[in-house]
Amino acid sequence: MAKRGPSYICQNCGAVYQRWQGRCDACGEWSTIAEESAPPPMPGGGRGLGGRPKGRVFALESLKGESHEAPRTQSGMAELDRVTGGGFVPGSVLLIGGDPGIGKSTLLTQACGLLARAGKRVVYVSGEEAVAQVRLRAERLGLNDAPVELAAETNVEDIIATLSQAAAPALVVIDSIQTMWTGEVESAPGTVTQVRGSAQALIRFAKTSGACLILVGHVTKDGQIAGPRVVEHMVDAVISFEGEGGHAFRVLRAQKNRFGPTDEIGVFEMTGAGLAEVANPSALFLAGRDLSAPGAAVFAGMEGTRPVLVEIQALVAPTALGTPRRAVVGWDPSRLAMVLAVLETHGGLRLSGHDVYLNVAGGLRVQEPAADLAVAAALVSSLTGAVLPADAVYFGEIALSGAIRPVSLSGARVKEAGKLGFARVVAPALGDAEQRGMRLAGTPHVAELVAAIAATAPARPRRGPDPDEER
Ligand code: TYD
Ligand code: MG
Repeated sequence: MAKRGPSYICQNCGAVYQRWQGRCDACGEWSTIAEESAPPPMPGGGRGLGGRPKGRVFALESLKGESHEAPRTQSGMAELDRVTGGGFVPGSVLLIGGDPGIGKSTLLTQACGLLARAGKRVVYVSGEEAVAQVRLRAERLGLNDAPVELAAETNVEDIIATLSQAAAPALVVIDSIQTMWTGEVESAPGTVTQVRGSAQALIRFAKTSGACLILVGHVTKDGQIAGPRVVEHMVDAVISFEGEGGHAFRVLRAQKNRFGPTDEIGVFEMTGAGLAEVANPSALFLAGRDLSAPGAAVFAGMEGTRPVLVEIQALVAPTALGTPRRAVVGWDPSRLAMVLAVLETHGGLRLSGHDVYLNVAGGLRVQEPAADLAVAAALVSSLTGAVLPADAVYFGEIALSGAIRPVSLSGARVKEAGKLGFARVVAPALGDAEQRGMRLAGTPHVAELVAAIAATAPARPRRGPDPDEER
């Protein structure tokens, strides 16, 4: 049997090492490995005398059979319910992650307040703030009168004992899981072992009592839910709450959901009186567009079942550096590198002497490859100085050959664009757009896109001719 001694566990991802090292091989983080005492092994390795399994024998079931879906508890916030898949499932556990200050406590206080007002038993346990601070927030949100049961506690055994005294609550919020500790584990609070142990105990309580449990988790700088990445495997749903600093928009996104879709988003706006739901995000993301500047293209995207129009902004400027800069906010940098390479190879553009900046307006993070065409249009527009038509939307995936591929749900994208007053669609060939009163510019190849935009460029380029072109 292996010698049992202290284990060295990465506090970021939970990887276990025999001895200390400076950098975690699993997640690449530095100085995250700390010594923790390992949990005791199962007595007898889970086997009885004679090496025979000593478990209880149970009957196996078939896939076919009766099982009724438990009624969901709706929070009363449509955007939150959309992301959870139609409300909280009794006995399920949600992990909600986000940067500090993004509004996790605000969102959950609002959800708790609304549920409590609707007559459900709701318990909010804060491990980070005193009861007075939570009250102050509730006051600001106008939810002081809601009969939410509050506590500022961090010991899991105490919390479970208290919750078990009366009827199981419909919803329990633990804010945050990193502050919780259990007496079952020796490690210091905040370590992976503690977080895992605390989460296990709380999850067991949720499963046995039928309460829906929400765990709040903090996020590290690269967007992972810190420490409790180990918890992600144990919960039913992982939801992230995102937003760009300086923007009031907040996007709730399911990353994993055993009881619902993972591609839906909920959009909120942080106001002076809490989070306001945004039912029509496109109008919000497109507000304040500068229609006369080159470098902006409207992308008709999909977030789950909902079309979302968003402005993609590009700035292509001659570089003063040996290696030009590529900076991206809200999109995948490697996808940008690919679009740039395709534009150079198949579109005849010279971008190697230019810095490229790309931004998705409003703080939204676009994940679809369908944004390729809008990104390409914004880039070409910025490079040539040609302003794109204000009433055009773009979508399509660019292949490495330069061909533009159709994407899913083009009908819904076109319809949303029509609703918001757009009259032109630039996309790979699609069937019924014309019938909706939209002008369709079918664009099968990036070379055509480049030619079409360059044709509308002002006679003199806004910036001097590209030095590379002279050769
Ligand atoms: P909070 O919910 O405490 O964030 P988290 O729990 O994710 O750390 O939100 C904190 C921020 O939200 C803080 O900067 C103040 C702001 N805020 C508002 O703008 N309006 C409000 O009504 C509330 C309650 C907070
Ligand atoms: Mg908080």
